[in-house]
Amino acid sequence: MARLRTAVLISGRGSNLEALIAACAQPGFPAEIALVLANRADAPGLAHAERAAISTRVIAHRDFATREAFDAAIDAALRAAHIDLVCLAGFMRLFGGDFCARWRDRLVNIHPSLLPAFRGLDTHARALAEGVRFTGCTVHFVRAEMDHGPIIVQAAVPVLAGDDAERLAARVLAAEHRAYPLALKLIAEGRVRVRDERVEIAGVAAAPASLLNPPDDGLCASA
Ligand code: GRF
Repeated sequence: MARLRTAVLISGRGSNLEALIAACAQPGFPAEIALVLANRADAPGLAHAERAAISTRVIAHRDFATREAFDAAIDAALRAAHIDLVCLAGFMRLFGGDFCARWRDRLVNIHPSLLPAFRGLDTHARALAEGVRFTGCTVHFVRAEMDHGPIIVQAAVPVLAGDDAERLAARVLAAEHRAYPLALKLIAEGRVRVRDERVEIAGVAAAPASLLNPPDDGLCASA
């Protein structure tokens, strides 16, 4: 069967791109990365694509007078490459309403928190400041409002004693590298549907009933 033609949009390091490239390299994986697009020529993540012999494009937002013109250039590049699905992976630009409507339910993002908590930047410092015991990451379909849209996959990560934002970010990032390939696989298999702005996924096993942090060491294990 034809693999889902996926574009990954980056602005920086590209570790999620790297995880997606690794997933797509597995035999039988239902998606392929047909294009990596960056809005900065110096995005270090472009090297991951070049190493994997994936086509790259740089479309610099600074070259465009308006957001609409930038969005139109990205849209044209995606169409020229016959892209089915767009994955934002540390892409630090917001798309306008027209672009989001045109790519509705074919445009996904990964955010380093358990949405709807901690939309925006500095998620890990804010999670630490709130004293939450779990944080994590979310893969979601993109809507025009920042960090909104139907949720596809979430991974929960414990906050541990002694964490600072950097340590917590590293733990969440490891979870991102599992969550994003999983979301891509489910979408590419055609198992993900959006209904009433919520995601339904066909044929998935139930997740464990609950996670405790701190663990209860069997305190209530008799049930
Ligand atoms: C990730 O934490 C992602 O959740 C956020 O930006 C970061 C990108 O990291 N949207 P990388 O470029 O994929 O390494």
